[in-house]
Amino acid sequence: MLTDTFEILSSIVLSQDEIHAPYGGIVPELASRQHIASITYVVEESLSRAHLSLKDIDAYAVTQGPGLIGSLLVGLSFAKGLAYCFDKPLIPVDHLEAHVESAFIENREIPFPLLALLVSGGHTAIILLKKKLSFQQVARTRDDAAGEALDKIAKFLDLDYPGGPVIESLALKGNPKEFPFATPHMTDGSLDFSFSGLKTAALRHIREHNISKDHPKFVDFLASFQKAIVRALLSNMSKSIKAFKPRSLILCGGVARNFVLRQNFQKLARTFHLPAFIPSPEFCTDNAVMVAALAVEKIGHQKTGPLDLRLNAYPRKIR
Ligand code: KG4
Ligand code: ZN
Repeated sequence: MLTDTFEILSSIVLSQDEIHAPYGGIVPELASRQHIASITYVVEESLSRAHLSLKDIDAYAVTQGPGLIGSLLVGLSFAKGLAYCFDKPLIPVDHLEAHVESAFIENREIPFPLLALLVSGGHTAIILLKKKLSFQQVARTRDDAAGEALDKIAKFLDLDYPGGPVIESLALKGNPKEFPFATPHMTDGSLDFSFSGLKTAALRHIREHNISKDHPKFVDFLASFQKAIVRALLSNMSKSIKAFKPRSLILCGGVARNFVLRQNFQKLARTFHLPAFIPSPEFCTDNAVMVAALAVEKIGHQKTGPLDLRLNAYPRKIR
C-alpha cells in the first residue's frame, strides 16, 4: 500500500517458493490455486498493517501481464471487483514496466534518458526510457531468461528451487575461472540475449566432468556458470549503452538480488561514468509496491481513464 508521495504504508510479499520447490520450477495450476486461496488474506493483512480499511483506498493498481495467465486473472478479477464495488479507478500495470519503476521507489530523481537491464525468472530485457513512462524495449531474450537458465541448471544438479540464490551462495566459495564459457553473441548485430547456448555448454561440462554435488570442483563450476551469465548480461548492456548513450542506468528484476551481478553492474556504470540505480533486494523480487508505484506515476501523468470493466490479462508482452 502506497501514498501518492511514495510513502510505503504496508508491503506484503507472500512467497510460493515452498509450494513449487518439490517440482524444481513453477507449476502454473498450483500458482493460480495458491493465488485464489491467499489473495483475501494478503489484502486484509496489508490493510491491517497500514491501519486502513477498504473505504480509505483512492485507487487500485493491478498487474495486467506478462506472466502466468491463471495468477494474473485471479489478481485482475479481485482488483476489478474492489474497484467496481467502491467505484474507484483501477490502474492496469505492466509487470516488466513495474520492475523498472522499482528503482524509483528509493530514488525519485533518476536522470533521463535511462537504460534499464531487467533480469527476472521469466524475462530478460533492456528497456530505454527517454522520459517518464515512455518504456521502449530495445533488447529481449530469444530463448531462456537468465533466471530461468540458473533455475534449470540448479534443477539438473538436484539443487533447491529457486536455483538463482542457491547457486549464488554455493558459488561464494568457488573459482569462477575454473570452467571456460564463451560469451554469446548475436550474429545479426542485434542487442538481443540468448542463454540456451550457455545452458548447453553447462550441460556439456556437467557430462564431461561428471559434475554433481560431491564433485571436488562443484562450487567452481557454479561460480563459473554464474559468472558466464553475468558476463553475457553485461556485454549486451555495454553495447546498448554505446548505442543509446543514456544518462543513468537501472538494474532490476529478481536476479538483480545477485551480489556478483550488482557489483559488476556498478563497475560497468563506473567505466561509462554513469550513475547506477539498483533497488534494495526486497524490491527486486516481484512485489506490490513497484506495481503501486507505477500506478501512482500514471495517475500523476494523467495516463489513466475511468474504470474499464473490459480490462483483461495478457500472458506475453503485447508491444
Ligand atoms: O522477478 P522475479 O521475482 O520473478 C519473475 O518475474 O520471474 O525473479 C525470480 C528469479 C528466479 O529465477 C530466481 O532464481 C532469481 O530471480 N533470483 C536470483 C537471486 N534471487 C532470485 N538469481 C540469482 N541470484 C539471486 N540472489
Ligand atoms: Zn517479476
